[in-house]
Amino acid sequence: VMESLKGVNRGRLQVAVASTVNYFAPRLLAIFQKRYPGITLKLVVTNREKLVHLLDGNAVDLVLMGLPPKTVEVESEVFMENPLVVVAPPDHPLAGERDIPLSRIAQEVFVMREEGSGTRQAMERFFAERGLSIRHGMQMTRNEAVKQAVRSGLGLSVVSMHTIELELETRRLVVLDVEDFPDRRQWYLVYRQGKRLSPAARAFREFVLAEAASIAAPISFPQKTPANG
Ligand code: PGA
Repeated sequence: VMESLKGVNRGRLQVAVASTVNYFAPRLLAIFQKRYPGITLKLVVTNREKLVHLLDGNAVDLVLMGLPPKTVEVESEVFMENPLVVVAPPDHPLAGERDIPLSRIAQEVFVMREEGSGTRQAMERFFAERGLSIRHGMQMTRNEAVKQAVRSGLGLSVVSMHTIELELETRRLVVLDVEDFPDRRQWYLVYRQGKRLSPAARAFREFVLAEAASIAAPISFPQKTPANG
């Protein structure tokens, strides 16, 4: 046991995460670092499209992201749930409504993430699969900007529950009860196929698969209550 620990407790580890994973990734790294203080950790935070480039260029050890790419050959393993929800400012007319039909939601303007965002892709796919298109409002490259914009009344948006923990707690945003939501996505740990993982990378992979879900703040998913009790 001591020998294998020694082997792991050195070296460098580069992890790249989607901007949405960033809401809990530093917490994971902090715990991992305490366990393996000799490993030098580097974190890259970016959107889905850039993560795919990093995988393609073999530029990082491990990636934590939404849907794994199809254009690069990768190994991928699910490590956690990633529900997407519709958010609105607390004073929005639809806040507090039950079972809002998708056709009603499609009349609203949506604040969009940039092209290349996995969240944006999932959101567009979600509506397209149901024969609906959404009205694009302002576009922005950060989850933080999207949340501020929604709060300021620029439109609704679809975001990962993991990005709005604090806003829900302080009631700066509310989750709307929309038909077919939450969109139940998952997080994946991804690396290039055939990549030889270093001992540090292997240790991190095991850590994420075994413990990430319980470390990332437990999120209270919006419960669907049947209309008739
Ligand atoms: P992104 O990440 O929207 O920042 O690209 C989220 C995802 O890929 O799910």
